[in-house]
Amino acid sequence: MKKILAVLMTFVIVATCGVALADAPKIGITIYQFADNFMTLYREELVRYLTEDCGIPAENITVMDGKNDQAEQSNQIDGFIADNVDVMILNLVQSSSAASVIQKADAAGIPVVFINREPSAEDMALNGNFCYVGADARQSGTMQGNIVLSLDNKGDYNGNGVVDYVMIMGDPENVDAQYRTEFSVKALTDAGLQVKELFKQRGDWDQTKGQELAATALTQFGSDVDVIFCNNDAMALGAYQAIADAGRTVGEDIALLGVDALAECVEMVKEGKMTGTVLNDHNGQSHAAADAALKAAAGETLEKYYWVDYVMVTK
Ligand code: GAL
Repeated sequence: MKKILAVLMTFVIVATCGVALADAPKIGITIYQFADNFMTLYREELVRYLTEDCGIPAENITVMDGKNDQAEQSNQIDGFIADNVDVMILNLVQSSSAASVIQKADAAGIPVVFINREPSAEDMALNGNFCYVGADARQSGTMQGNIVLSLDNKGDYNGNGVVDYVMIMGDPENVDAQYRTEFSVKALTDAGLQVKELFKQRGDWDQTKGQELAATALTQFGSDVDVIFCNNDAMALGAYQAIADAGRTVGEDIALLGVDALAECVEMVKEGKMTGTVLNDHNGQSHAAADAALKAAAGETLEKYYWVDYVMVTK
C-alpha cells in the first residue's frame, strides 16, 4: 500500500509540476519579512502550490520569517544547510548577502532559488546550482510612466508645462526600488515631457511610512504636486490617505500610482481613487519558483534567470 502511495505521489508530482522525484524533497524557505503585504500573498501561494498542486507533504516544507534582519535570516539559512534540505527558496533581507549564501550552499551541494530581491549580476555569475525567479523591475517602472502618459493631461494637472512629481521609494537596497524609481520617470522624459522631482524619500514598502511621506510632501509642495509615484501599492494605500486628508482628488488634481495590484488597490483603480497600478504576478512568480526548486531538487541544472511579466492595471 505504501509503495502504491509512493508511486501515486510521484505520479502527482510528475503530472503537475513537471519533474519526477522518488521522494518528496525537503524545502527550506525564508521570506525577508512576513509583515509585507505583497510577500504575504506570494508566500501563501508558494506553499499552497507546493502542497496542493505539486503534492509535497506540508511537513517537508519549512517557512521562516527573516524579520527584516539579515543576521537572523543568515542563521535560518545555516539551519537549513545543517538540516541538509534538498533545496532552498530564499527571499533575502539584503540581496548583497547573496554571494556568501551561494558559496555556502554550493559547498553543501544544496541548490538555491532566489526570489523577489534580485542579486547583483556579479553574484549571479558565481558558481553553483542557483537561479533568480522574478519580474524585471524596469518593466514595472516603465508601465507606471506609461499610465501617466495615457492621461489626457499627461500628468500635468496644474498646467505649468511640467510633470511635478513626488517619489516614494521602497528599500533602496532592492533593485525593485531603484529601477521603479528610475524607469517611471524615464518613460516620461523619453516621451519628451518636462519633469521635476519635488520630493523623493524611502518608505521601505510600508503603508504607514507611505502616508507620512506623502503628507509631508503635500504639506510642503501643495498644489505644485501633480503625480505621486509609489514603488509599491502598500505605500500608495498610505499616500491615498494623505491625499484625501489634504483635500485633493485623484483624477481631478493629482495622479497616484503603485505597483503590485493588491486586491484593494485594483478596487481603488476601478473607483478612480488610484490612477493605476502594475500587477506584480505573485501567482506566476511563486509557481515558477516552486517549479525551479523541484527541478533542482531532482538534480537538474537551473537556468540563471526565470522571468515573469508585469501587467499594467488601469480603469
Ligand atoms: C516588491 C513588491 C513590494 C515588496 C518588495 C519586497 O517586488 O512590489 O511590495 O513586497 O518586493 O522586496
